[in-house]
Amino acid sequence: MKETALITGASSGIGYQFALILADKGFDLIITARNTEKLTELKEQILSKTKVNVVILEKDLSIINSANELYADIKNQGLKVTILINNAGFGDYNEFTKTDIEKQLEMVQLNIASLISLTRFFLNGMQIENYGKILNVSSILAFFPMPLFSVYASTKSFVLSFSEALNEELKQTNISVTCLCPGPTKSNFTQNSEMGQSRELIKT
Ligand SMILES: NC(=O)c1ccc[n+]([C@@H]2O[C@H](COP(=O)([O-])OP(=O)(O)OC[C@H]3O[C@@H](n4cnc5c(N)ncnc54)[C@H](OP(=O)(O)O)[C@@H]3O)[C@@H](O)[C@H]2O)c1
Repeated sequence: MKETALITGASSGIGYQFALILADKGFDLIITARNTEKLTELKEQILSKTKVNVVILEKDLSIINSANELYADIKNQGLKVTILINNAGFGDYNEFTKTDIEKQLEMVQLNIASLISLTRFFLNGMQIENYGKILNVSSILAFFPMPLFSVYASTKSFVLSFSEALNEELKQTNISVTCLCPGPTKSNFTQNSEMGQSRELIKT
């Protein structure tokens, strides 16, 4: 069976690397993020080395209902996802009372709500085939509360707890749910999470 992996947050960092690794192994890809220029660069890089199909879908998954739209786009193109990698995410590093609540809620929408929706939608097809793999990207911060990253760390605790529970529910099937909990990893994460100020905040 030809397998297709949907990778969210494929335009940089960990998601970008997932795409290169899976393409090398011969998987067709659906890559999504907001930055289509980066996704196009990734697609060109993959097509220069492999013969896999790569579909680009631009989507801001911090917007309510965007996961529904992404699912509809994929269904309308007649694509069947056998591997779902919920990787897109960002943090917002600061004292909670100094954070922008709109940004925090966008983070919750992206890191939690869109991940739940995509998992639910694509599980339908996986259950019909009794086959599929879901990889949710959490963080080492899933394991303990993190001052100055209070909401972000909590979103990652949710991802770990949800993934473990769902994997247990699906243990009699050929569908697995795996959770990746990386430690500090070189990517755009630090810059996008405004962690440049971290040393100053820790000193005060
Ligand atoms: N790097 C670390 O140290 C580290 C440690 C533990 C866990 N993680 C987790 O690893 C995952 C990947 O992060 P990374 O380190 O690879 O960081 P990154 O380089 O900043 O990549 C984040 C990816 O998420 C996408 N994204 C961000 N906001 C989005 C939105 N609103 N809608 C759709 N896509 C969005 C970005 O694409 P666009 O900007 O193009 O939309 C990008 O492709 C995240 O879930 C992060 O929490 C990272």
